[in-house]
Amino acid sequence: MTMIPFLDLKTQYFSIKDEIDQAVLEVLGSSKYALGPAVEKFEEEFAEFQGVKYAVAVNSGTSALHASLLAAGVGEDCEVITVSMTFIATVAAISYVGARPVFVDIEESSFNIDPSKIEAQITPRTKAIIPVHLHGQAADMDPILEIAERHNLTVIEDAAQAHGAEYNGKRVGGIGHIGSFSFYPGKNLGAYGEGGIVTTNNADHANYVRLLRDWGQKKKYHHDILAYNYRMDSIQGAVLGVKLKYLEDWTEIRRNHALQYSTALDKAGISRSVEVLGCRHVYHVYSVFHPNRQQLQKTLQDEEIHSGMHYPIPVHLQKPYQGLGYSAGSLPVSEKFAREQLSLPMFPELTKAQIGKVSDVVCGWVG
Ligand SMILES: Cc1ncc(COP(=O)(O)O)c(C=O)c1O
Repeated sequence: MTMIPFLDLKTQYFSIKDEIDQAVLEVLGSSKYALGPAVEKFEEEFAEFQGVKYAVAVNSGTSALHASLLAAGVGEDCEVITVSMTFIATVAAISYVGARPVFVDIEESSFNIDPSKIEAQITPRTKAIIPVHLHGQAADMDPILEIAERHNLTVIEDAAQAHGAEYNGKRVGGIGHIGSFSFYPGKNLGAYGEGGIVTTNNADHANYVRLLRDWGQKKKYHHDILAYNYRMDSIQGAVLGVKLKYLEDWTEIRRNHALQYSTALDKAGISRSVEVLGCRHVYHVYSVFHPNRQQLQKTLQDEEIHSGMHYPIPVHLQKPYQGLGYSAGSLPVSEKFAREQLSLPMFPELTKAQIGKVSDVVCGWVG
């Protein structure tokens, strides 16, 4: 029996090793190790890929969110509407600027923020909405933007899991006022270390993020604002520049993998990830849902198939957020998702035989 990993970054590296090694060696020989030409080139290429005017590279998706919120003028006494079914970084960034996270439940269809529940949460303190394109599927951006416009709110898209995902033909991250991406290694576009980027068409926002990421300096040792060291490493810029060229191919392969899973799993009738009409899902995560997912995970494990949960505890029930006044039952759809979701192996280098094996085990378990 051969093990099927949840994620395999090594095989992908070896498939592009020569190009990556050369790009990294060029950086090593250039003596420019933070920001610099490799990062600038990647910023230009990513902005073009996204169809936005500006892309400002930073050192993680978390710092991209933090800088985006600061650029949007969100601070103490402000409220930011987002989801609880996300990785904690989305919410932590809101806390970093001293604002209060306000949670809206997710839709059953897309597992993203439910636009019909947003307006009831808006108060005079609300400054921004952060929709998260969970697992690689776009949130329903049109109604979100309409609400934001009516209430003069900034929309910051958390596209950390959704490089290349589309909503009505537009790439996510370029639909709201600001987009935020992570390049953590396991992401659909992953660095060989940490990385993130902020995308926008707004020159003021882009310039402010540029200041925030490098100590507030336009000129060396002249610090205009209180800022941070959120600079991207040059090596990551070079790696991402190489990998960006392959992203579309890898995304299409992920989508084919998802189709193979869905076709097989539908025979067993287990609920699974569904692509919403008009959205291009990029399957950062492929899910199945079952009230007894713990037992399903154990059955897979017995067959040496690794799986994951994204995420087993929604943020409103995590310890740092217990003071906000939410409790079990506050966000029923998010909580059910947290109880029932299981992530199956999903990465471009997965083989058809491996997907077949995983599907057989899941279908056999469902019976
Ligand atoms: C939805 C979401 N937001 C933000 C982040 C934070 O990104 P990073 O790990 O690069 O700081 C992640 C990464 O895991 C994420 O999945």
